[in-house]
Formats: sequence, structure tokens, C-alpha cells
Amino acid sequence: MCGIIGCVGVRDSMGRLITGLENLEYRGYDSAGVAIQNGKGVEVYKRSGRVDELKKATPDKHAEIGIGHTRWSTHGPPTDDNAHPHTSTKEDVAVVHNGIIENYSDLRHKLEAKGHEFTSDTDTEVIPHLVQDFLDEGKDPETAFRETIKMLEGSYAIGCIVDNHGAVMATRQGSPLVLGVDDDAFYLASDVPAFLDYTDRVMYLEDGDVAIIRKGDLQLSDIEGVTVDRDVETVDWDPSETGKGSYDHYMLKEINTQPTALSNTIQGRADVENGQVNLEEFPPGTFEDIDSIHLVACGTSYHAAMYGSNMLSEGGVATTAFRASEYELHTNTIDENTLVIAVTQSGETADTLGAMRTAKEKGAEVVAVTNVVGSTAAREADQPLYIRAGPEIGVAATKTFSSQVVSLTMLSQRILDDLERGTPRGDMPEFLESLQRLPDDIERVLEHDDAKNIARRYSDAKSYFFIGRGTANAVALEGALKFKEITYEHAEGFAAGELKHGPLALITDRTPVFAVFTGDEEQDKKTLTNAQEAQTRGAPIIAIAPKDHPSLEFADEHLEVPSTNSAWAGLLANVQLQLVSYYAADQLSRPIDKPRNLAKSVTVE
Ligand code: F6R
Repeated sequence: MCGIIGCVGVRDSMGRLITGLENLEYRGYDSAGVAIQNGKGVEVYKRSGRVDELKKATPDKHAEIGIGHTRWSTHGPPTDDNAHPHTSTKEDVAVVHNGIIENYSDLRHKLEAKGHEFTSDTDTEVIPHLVQDFLDEGKDPETAFRETIKMLEGSYAIGCIVDNHGAVMATRQGSPLVLGVDDDAFYLASDVPAFLDYTDRVMYLEDGDVAIIRKGDLQLSDIEGVTVDRDVETVDWDPSETGKGSYDHYMLKEINTQPTALSNTIQGRADVENGQVNLEEFPPGTFEDIDSIHLVACGTSYHAAMYGSNMLSEGGVATTAFRASEYELHTNTIDENTLVIAVTQSGETADTLGAMRTAKEKGAEVVAVTNVVGSTAAREADQPLYIRAGPEIGVAATKTFSSQVVSLTMLSQRILDDLERGTPRGDMPEFLESLQRLPDDIERVLEHDDAKNIARRYSDAKSYFFIGRGTANAVALEGALKFKEITYEHAEGFAAGELKHGPLALITDRTPVFAVFTGDEEQDKKTLTNAQEAQTRGAPIIAIAPKDHPSLEFADEHLEVPSTNSAWAGLLANVQLQLVSYYAADQLSRPIDKPRNLAKSVTVE
């Protein structure tokens, strides 16, 4: 949700800022801008629309110091004026910001009363005006920056330049900010892919850190100027992973690289020989004192959490998956023996972080299942479990859902192993073998092109329904979310048994029903009955099931998945549904990687 970047030390900072913004565009793409220093004020270029528009408007200039921004609007529509960077009235301070300044209205009134003229509707604009105000009082740029930060309430990652100062100043509070360290340059960004082409050495800033970055010099301190140390870490993401390769869209690339992503997720964790899951982060005994388990997450990650909670509930452990934004209402059910598992790809989702903090205040043990090393969720949790899916750029989550499901299922097994009351799996060897086979099974799903054909055949439908039970219910909800998110067509996911309690009223011959089967005979029988109830009323039924499945006798269409352990059947079905959504959106020429009104990392509540 908004991406910020800064670059210090190389002559073509401008070019690197623009490349960085392209790599950060998944965080927001309503407008974009850059600012550089030139000794006669700061030079700002900004445009509503995509980074491509900014590129056209930016001269080929050399600058050794600059900041940039790609926006997901919160305050004010996506216009040129509301685009960042924002400047002070004298135009010698420029600021980029990700987050929300909660007390901006109050600050703005006070600044306007002092003669500051505002040109945007944004909360951000108060920041350069405040810096300017302190400069006018005679303070040096660094003191002016620190005094400004002290006045802000809310969440922020900020990059600021002051003309003739020769530095980028930056800080964070509740929004991500990472520094890239190279031999000849420093970078700052909301996320590592922004500068991964140039360096893999990173420093994750903590809330309250203030960075003053000059050519060849980096000073880190707290708000009062007391020096702080942060480790330089090396990230093992391959820069080629952040490109589209030969694919038309990141989403298609990310769907197709799920076998590799999952191999990484599983590597070293499925011990077939000894019949157990090994998670080095959670040695045996870690979960002995747990009474109940809560999973908290949003959107696709919530669907992964639903999927994960099934196994724990089946194993006899009280488990509930909550939408993170609703968790506040359930705080009375949390205590020291509650394990709270936060599921978040980015590790920066404000609602999920809020739920984690609530849980910690109540004394619960908090685990974060996340993709991003060093993310806020990873750092605030008692222990992170990394899903190792590699960078995901498409706004619609695909490979990270699969890696979350597998990570959560492995974690569930570890928890059940620790709890005496857990029901041991009767099929452990088969469960582990099928886990290891998963990357190959997904490869087999990807070899079919049935999804493309079905997406085309039903392209004039009025509404798309997705149904399933148990883990397949989570997949049905996920299938519908993906479909509506990238096609802009109406899609709904239901617990299969719920159709008859209302939604059947919407069924016509233009509401195709995608029925997800898990291979569990009893559940599948009921789901089939529910699908037939829709079919009787005219709906075409698309069964997602292995070949020879009983549903195929009745289904109008078939999306085939390999036969596997019921723990993974939903995951394979989901890959087919990802492909259906992708090809349906492609047929409609939608901007698949950047669906309207959305952003990948949602850092506001
Ligand atoms: C949908 C999607 C979103 C995210 C949600 C949570 O395709 O990507 O629904 O799943 O915003 O994001 P994370 O997992 O980063 O917490």
C-alpha cells in the first residue's frame, strides 16, 4: 500500500528510482513521482496513473540523491496534485510517505494559520510543511526532520530531502522500510525488490529508527539522535525471480512456478523416513501447553487459515480462524494458553498486525506464518515460520496461498504431535509421501489447458459460484475471491451445504457452479448432492476432481486434478481455479497484475 524509494550515491539515481518504482508498483498504482535535489529548490516530477506515465514525464537527468513514490490513494483522489512527493510552500523540502497521518487535519489547520499554502488533499503534505516550519525557525535539516516526526501520530515510512542538504532522511513507525547497502550507493524502500537488481545486502529498520543517508555514509539513530545498530543481512532472493520472464503476466508466472515454490516450502521439513514433520523453528514440546488455537488473517491468507484450521479441528484441538479485522471483538477468548497463528504473505497487513498485537497484550503465544523475512509480522511474533515462496509481485496472491496452506498443514501436524489429546493420523506415511509429491502433482495440473477452455466457454455468465466442504470450502471462497478480483465479474464462494439456505434463488443457466471435491467420500457425496440441486435449476456444474470421481457421472464439465491425500486435494483444485480466473480475466483484457482499486500490501486498517 504505497511504495517509497530513495537512492543516494550513484549518478543515475533518477533511473534507479524509476526502476525501483516499477518493482514496487504492486503496492499501489494510482500515481507516481520522484524528487531530486538541484541546489535551487527540489525538482519534482509526478503524474497520476502508472509509473509508465511518470517515465514519459521525467527528463533524462543525473542526480545523486532522490526519492520516489507509487501511490494507493487514501486521502484524496489519484490526481497529479495528490501524487507524491509533496513539497513545502518554498519548495525546498520534498517528502514521500507510506501510511496514514492520523492527526493531519489538526496539523494542517495550525500550519495554514501560520501562512502555509497547501496544494493537495493528502495527509502527507503536512510533513514537508512542518519540516519547512522548523527550518524557518533556524533549525538544521536533521533537527527539523526529527522535530517533525515527534509531531506525527499514525503509521508512516517517510523519505525526505531538503535542498542543499546532501542526504536522504528516513524513518518508520508501523510501515515497512528497508535499507539496501551497496559498495557505492545506499537505497531505501518499502520492500527489497525495489533495489534487488543492485544489491542483496539489506538492513531492516525498526519502528522509531531515523536514517540519515549520504554518499558513502549511513547514520542510524533513534528519534533523539542516540546511535542504534542494525545488522546487515543478505537476502537469498534471485533478482530474476522478480521479473516476468517469458510470461505475459506475473500472475501466470507465479501460478506456473508453484512447483518450485512448494519444493522450497517443503524442503527439509517432511521426514518420510521417521514418519514426522520437522520444523526446526518449533522443536518437539513447543506447543505442550496450548489449550486452543486462533488463526488470524485477511483475504486470501484468511482462506489459507481456514484451510489450515481444518486439520487442527479434525485432530481434536479447539481451533478458530478469524478475519483479522474482526478479532478485536473476540479478545475475551484469548489467554496465555492460546496459540495465535497470524497468516500474512507480506507480513505488513495492518489488520493482521493489529490482531497480533491484541493477542500479545493478552499474553498469547504468537506465531507468524509469512513470506517476507524481516517483515513486521516476522519481527513482532514470538516465532516466525517462513513459507519460502519467493517474491510474489502479482497483486492476486497465488503461489503464496499454496505455500501458506502447506506450511500451515505442516505446522498443524507439529502441534498435534505435541498434544497428547490430538488424534494421531492413521495415514502418516501416505500423508508425507503425498506432501513430497505435491510439486509434481501441481506440474501435472499445469500441463492441462482445460481451465482456459472453460474460462472461454462460460465467459458470458452472469455470476460464478464456487462450492465445497471442509478444506474445499476454503478453496471455494478463495476461487471466488480470485475470480472477482481480477475479472471484475460477480463471483461468490459458499459452503456447499449453504446453497439451499438462500443462494439457490440466484441460480439460472447463467450461473456456472464450480464444485470442489476433496476425495473424502462422505463429504464429496454431500457436495455432489448440493451441486445437483443447483444443476436441477439450470446451473452448469464444473467438477474439480480426479478422473473416475463419482461426480463426473453428473457434471457438465471436468477440471481434472491428480488423485492425492485429502489433505492436499483442495490445494490442487485451487490451482485449476487460479487458471480459470486468469484466463477469464485475460479474455476480458483486464490489467491482471494490477486490478483496479487494489494493492498488494494493505497497510491501513
Ligand atoms: C487477494 C490478496 C489479498 C491478501 C490480503 C492479505 O489475492 O492477495 O486478499 O491476501 O490483503 O495480505 P497478506 O497476506 O499480505 O496479509
